Amino acid sequence: MHIHVAEHPLISQKLTALRDERTDSIAFRALTDELVILLSYEATRGLRTVPCEVVTPVAPASGVDLASPMPLVVPILRAGLGMLAGMMRLLPNAEVGFLGMVRNHESLVATTYAERLPNDLSGRQCFVLDPMLATGGTLVAAIELLFARGATDVTAICLLAAPEGIRRVQDSFGDRVDVTIVTAGLDEKLTDRGYIYPGLGDAGDRLFGSAGY
Ligand code: URA
Repeated sequence: MHIHVAEHPLISQKLTALRDERTDSIAFRALTDELVILLSYEATRGLRTVPCEVVTPVAPASGVDLASPMPLVVPILRAGLGMLAGMMRLLPNAEVGFLGMVRNHESLVATTYAERLPNDLSGRQCFVLDPMLATGGTLVAAIELLFARGATDVTAICLLAAPEGIRRVQDSFGDRVDVTIVTAGLDEKLTDRGYIYPGLGDAGDRLFGSAGY
């Protein structure tokens, strides 16, 4: 497993604004969008390409195109949806699958309530969008599902991660499969209620409101 904590002044500044409890949902969504574009740039460094030729107005030139099959982007509902638009701006040819997962507030165990993914992910590079890598339960379950369907490598893009979550992903996959985590920040710890500390609170609520859940 590889972990990449993206370091860039713009990423740090946007993450700080996201953390600020005074940031409302409108600004939070806009900041998430911008942050995801910056993180996806890092996360897509290993994208597979094939050589191709084009003709410029001056001369023939060699270049690259994205290899087939196209990458699959998988936002984990609900909060991962807030990261989809930014990711698709950078990778407009990608295809999108959906995973709905919710974690029990008491046990912190994640269960899947919706799934719309191709049955065959052979040879696919997958990008999971999950803003908060907290206990790691949700991400591990999502990654297991993708590898079980033939994905070859999985990159998770997270706004924030906790050491406990990183450890859980590492313990689950080690170096046996190709898993990368790209995050804007690695925080101190988890609270006893499973929140990232100091974190930014509940990412889904901050993106979309609590809607009375
Ligand atoms: N999910 C969130 O939205 N926030 C946390 O801090 C942890 C999990």
